[in-house]
Amino acid sequence: MNHLHLFTYYNCLLRSVVCCARNRDKKMNLRLSLLLLIFFLVKSNQGSIFKTFSGVLSPNSYPSSVVFPLSGNVFPLGYYSVSLQIGNPPKAFQFDIDTGSDLTWVQCNAPCKGCTVPPSLQYMPKANIIPCSDPICSSLHWPKKPECPNPKEQCDYEVTYADQGSSMGALVIDQFPLKLQNGSFLQPRLAFGCGYDQSFPSAHPSPATAGVLGLGRGRISVLTQLVSAGLTRNVIGHCLSSNGGGFLFFGDNLIPSTGVSWTPLMSQDNHYTTGPAELLSNGKSTGLKDLKLIFDSGSSYTYFNSKTYQKIVNLIGNDLKDKPLKDAKEDKTLPICWKGAKPLKSVLEVKNLFKTLTINFMSGRRNTQLQIPPESYLIISKTGNVCLGILNGSEVGLQDSNVIGDISMQGVMMIYDNEKQQLGWVSADCNKIPKI
Ligand SMILES: *[C@@H]1O[C@H](CO)[C@@H](O)[C@H](O)[C@H]1NC(C)=O
Ligand SMILES: *[C@@H]1O[C@H](CO)[C@@H](O)[C@H](O)[C@H]1NC(C)=O
Repeated sequence: MNHLHLFTYYNCLLRSVVCCARNRDKKMNLRLSLLLLIFFLVKSNQGSIFKTFSGVLSPNSYPSSVVFPLSGNVFPLGYYSVSLQIGNPPKAFQFDIDTGSDLTWVQCNAPCKGCTVPPSLQYMPKANIIPCSDPICSSLHWPKKPECPNPKEQCDYEVTYADQGSSMGALVIDQFPLKLQNGSFLQPRLAFGCGYDQSFPSAHPSPATAGVLGLGRGRISVLTQLVSAGLTRNVIGHCLSSNGGGFLFFGDNLIPSTGVSWTPLMSQDNHYTTGPAELLSNGKSTGLKDLKLIFDSGSSYTYFNSKTYQKIVNLIGNDLKDKPLKDAKEDKTLPICWKGAKPLKSVLEVKNLFKTLTINFMSGRRNTQLQIPPESYLIISKTGNVCLGILNGSEVGLQDSNVIGDISMQGVMMIYDNEKQQLGWVSADCNKIPKI
């Protein structure tokens, strides 16, 4: 329900060493059945892996874009997902879209432990395991080196997300049939994780999705792979509709030529991190400054550090004095909920009791602002209360990072531009996939 896909094992700098050590132990206990399988597969598949990644964009090619419809919503589902085909003959898998992590993985019948989808919806590895000596395995483990005592051994991966969910498995390579906007069909061979050991203790790991589509800035992400094969520009974007659904795109063809606000991305960061920014409420200063913000489509809600969170809660509490909304402590949907005189159906009914928050970026050539109106930080619970979709990041171990999640990116086209190292946004109708 409350997804937060952010930190990965190989970005362990951000996590305690303890986490890595613990996971390593776990791996040794659980790998037996796959090891046998992998041994067999690698033997029958020597040498042929991974020829597609040397591609460079030739000066006279104009890379096209790919657009995918999305399904899902902020509440009650807590995720937006895309259906992608893999293999030949192709089989469709539902992926949770995640700009907070790099590796794409799918639940995999190797066989699988901890899979949430039935075997018929799992990926079936063939003779397509990537050995640990392959350069893409180094990309996965970058800046560390993969453990590779025997060059033919499988390339292991392991990702741990900020919500304590994790996936372990091995890298495989397979075709991803894609229809480009210019009409061409492509079948690039991309590396991704065959996840045969999942653990999602928060119990609501979007049971309908078969995996995670890692859209981060790292070398292993499918975007980086498509870009190095010369197929798209290094840009992704999404438009999450508040009615559910929306669209996702790779490449820059869909970006409007005017009206987009841009702010620089921090260059030394693995995540899509922006800032410094200040927070305004109803256009007025809150005294909260120097905020760093990570944009993460793998997070359902928005998280602020404890101090910022406390301030926002106080401001909202003050605004609600003498207003017809009372605390609804019995509603456990989210930490803070309020009830009205009668059950609510839509945030629009109480929107005027709340103020618009504004993130004012001060790092660009001029200030740019991202508006977060009440409908981008409130949800209506199943019992008809209104709940605050801004959460205490310190409580989930985010320390000083702030995370802008799906709830606050609804109704805008968000553009993650790795060519120009900038993040853009523009109001858009996310229910309609634009024609170009
Ligand atoms: C479409 O774009 C791709 C690269 O993105 C290119 O390989 C292909 O030749 C293009 N097709 C047409 C019909 O222009
Ligand atoms: C946020 O979480 C931290 C860590 O659990 C806690 O110490 C702090 O009091 C919380 N802040 C608020 C305003 O609830």
